[in-house]
Amino acid sequence: MTDRNPDRPDLPDLSSKNPDWWRQAVVYQIYPRSFADADGDGLGDLRGITRRLNHLAALGVDALWLSPFYPSELADGGYDVSDHRDVDPRLGTLEDFDALAAEAHRLGLKVIVDLVPNHSSHTHVWFQEALAAGPGSPARDRYVFRDGRGAQGELPPTDWQSVFGGSAWKRVPDGQWYLHLFAPEQPDLNWSNEEVRADFRTTLRFWSDRGVDGFRVDVAHALAKDLTEPLRDLGDLSAAAEQVLDDMPPGSHPYYDRDEVHEIYRDWRKVFDTYAPPRMAVAEAWVPNARRVLYARPDELGQAFNFEYLQAGWDADELRQVITDALTTARTAGASATWVLSNHDVVRHASRLLLPPGTDENAWLLSGGHAPAIDPAKGLRRARAATLLMLALPGSSYVYQGEELGLPEVADLPFEVLQDPIWEQTGHVRKGRDGCRVPLPWTTTGPSYGFGAGGAWLPQPESFAAYAVEAQDGVEGSTLELYRTALKLRRKLLEGESLTWAADSPAGVLDFARHDGWRCVANLSGTALPLPPGEVVLSSAPLDDGRIGPDTTVWLAR
Ligand code: GLC
Repeated sequence: MTDRNPDRPDLPDLSSKNPDWWRQAVVYQIYPRSFADADGDGLGDLRGITRRLNHLAALGVDALWLSPFYPSELADGGYDVSDHRDVDPRLGTLEDFDALAAEAHRLGLKVIVDLVPNHSSHTHVWFQEALAAGPGSPARDRYVFRDGRGAQGELPPTDWQSVFGGSAWKRVPDGQWYLHLFAPEQPDLNWSNEEVRADFRTTLRFWSDRGVDGFRVDVAHALAKDLTEPLRDLGDLSAAAEQVLDDMPPGSHPYYDRDEVHEIYRDWRKVFDTYAPPRMAVAEAWVPNARRVLYARPDELGQAFNFEYLQAGWDADELRQVITDALTTARTAGASATWVLSNHDVVRHASRLLLPPGTDENAWLLSGGHAPAIDPAKGLRRARAATLLMLALPGSSYVYQGEELGLPEVADLPFEVLQDPIWEQTGHVRKGRDGCRVPLPWTTTGPSYGFGAGGAWLPQPESFAAYAVEAQDGVEGSTLELYRTALKLRRKLLEGESLTWAADSPAGVLDFARHDGWRCVANLSGTALPLPPGEVVLSSAPLDDGRIGPDTTVWLAR
């Protein structure tokens, strides 16, 4: 339950003294390289973020989550970390980080950092030591090195596939192979090794001591691996790529969602709880709802991203089911539910929700967003309705930079500018995730629309000018103002972590009440709906002759 704020008994207490501040918080994800560039080198940086924190305060979010800003050669956009306890010199210094955190806290914003425990960069000193030390050495035991199969060890040790394409094993000059579930530049760490565990406890303390309020845990479901010899082939399970599917018996997978992984998070919880308030954490775990919630138990991480919600189509029955399941399992586990529509790994929801069910998103990206073509105005209308629905749900919402501007996916990035390793690693079969990572437009003119004094590391389309903060600030009906109003209202309306579905909503309509008569009605059908009784406090689109038009969500108060 959210504690009360003693000074404002009408508002939920999101103060830093409240250990449960995160349970219904709205968290804004910053992808640092694409947010704001203070030094004009085309790559966003920490000082750029600090200068723009007033945007987040004015938006009304509770916290920001920084995707990795650690030293990295950017083989995977910063998720290839060479030092988990430092700042990439291109993005700033530890002092810049401290200044960012201090300014965020001054503005009442919590700071969450990304923790990447499954792998390091191949440039990490540990991996360099492992290469130099040779087979059987303690340095190699921090990673997963194995001899190959075949007469000369010329075949990979197993059939495991990298999430980014191709074998998950790479051979080193002395003949051994090392495991990389992602890019070859991201060797997997061995979590059976006590030194690895101890080092990450040090990292948790390092950032917690610098005042961070929480951690987003990258690929949380992959850390524990079944490394008993001989290693098992995946066979048919390999089709599952990064995800664990519903029909996979728990524990059957050699490296995803193994029961032993939870020991790691119980260990971390002890570190989190040495701080006041305890540090929060949220798991990125691509596993089915019933298993995912285990990561979010109070003695583990507390929250886990709900990707079923993100993956659901724009379909009322499907969404109702996903929401109900998520709330039920979260309640049973004592966890807080989470909702997310966009992040740095998926097609932005202003485009995605308009793709016809069953569309192959990669084929759509390869077509430059032309097959099928999407009407941006319709996409935005649907995205705004989806957002108001999300923000009305009990639990915590994660918003991704630029969605408050209604940014669509940049689906037509030319192939030659692509940076995501997926493009090369799949031999130009999968276009990858760059289209949601294009730097933000702040102003309607200027070399990179106010992103920085120079260019931008991914080209911004001319259409970005119309989405710029400058074009929307103070403009009634703009998407930015819709988010601001929704977040302000949400603070007042927030209480309890449950909802009550209306008994008799028409097909294609989601209709639920929170406390004290606050009600949310989302019309996902093709026809306008009569307005239920109550005062409309917010609507994602103008009312249609006094009715709720298609692709519209309204919030009503009694
Ligand atoms: C997570 C990140 C993604 C990254 C991968 C490997 O899925 O969100 O961006 O590529 O982990 O670290």
